[in-house]
Amino acid sequence: MAINTDKVLVTHAEIEAMLDRISAELNRDYKDTPLVVVGILTGAFIFTADLVRRLEMPVIIDFMQVSSYVGEYSTGELKIKKDMSCDIKDMDVLIVEDIIDTGRTLKLLKEQLLARGPKSLKICTAFDKPSRRVNDLVPDYNGITVPDEFIVGYGLDLDGRYRDFDDIRIVRKE
Ligand code: IMP
Ligand code: MG
Repeated sequence: MAINTDKVLVTHAEIEAMLDRISAELNRDYKDTPLVVVGILTGAFIFTADLVRRLEMPVIIDFMQVSSYVGEYSTGELKIKKDMSCDIKDMDVLIVEDIIDTGRTLKLLKEQLLARGPKSLKICTAFDKPSRRVNDLVPDYNGITVPDEFIVGYGLDLDGRYRDFDDIRIVRKE
């Protein structure tokens, strides 16, 4: 089976416009407040890098690597593969994600990070696929809403590939 990634869903120019809009919203909402930006590895590494260079407040940049799975007797468990180094108690925290799909990962991550006592905790995602949601998770900042297609590029991968594309493409298996 061959993988076809010819179909562009979001152009690089559209991504740049999205970055300008989201960073303007964050600069307006946080003003000069120091912010802990937590990028979720690996997918959000490019979005995080592009976003923080447009932010005007002082930022501490950290990363976590997490995954979620649905167990036989549970609605979902979070596996933290790499925790952040920073102590977020009493800090304003922004989670930066590449894409929200079912919402399981971020719902569980949000619960765990809230238990660490941040002053505030908000979620910013580059892409959102709300049609796939299984819970009530809503991002505080959403870049671009996408249809129910598997997409790659701009950090998003299929088995580790295609993260380097500077646009978003739809994966077709043929
Ligand atoms: P969920 O919201 O817990 O279902 O999982 C979100 C994670 O699934 C994202 O952080 C991505 O790693 C991955 N993911 C979901 N949809 C896509 C896609 O279309 N392309 C690439 N990765 C995706
Ligand atoms: Mg991810």
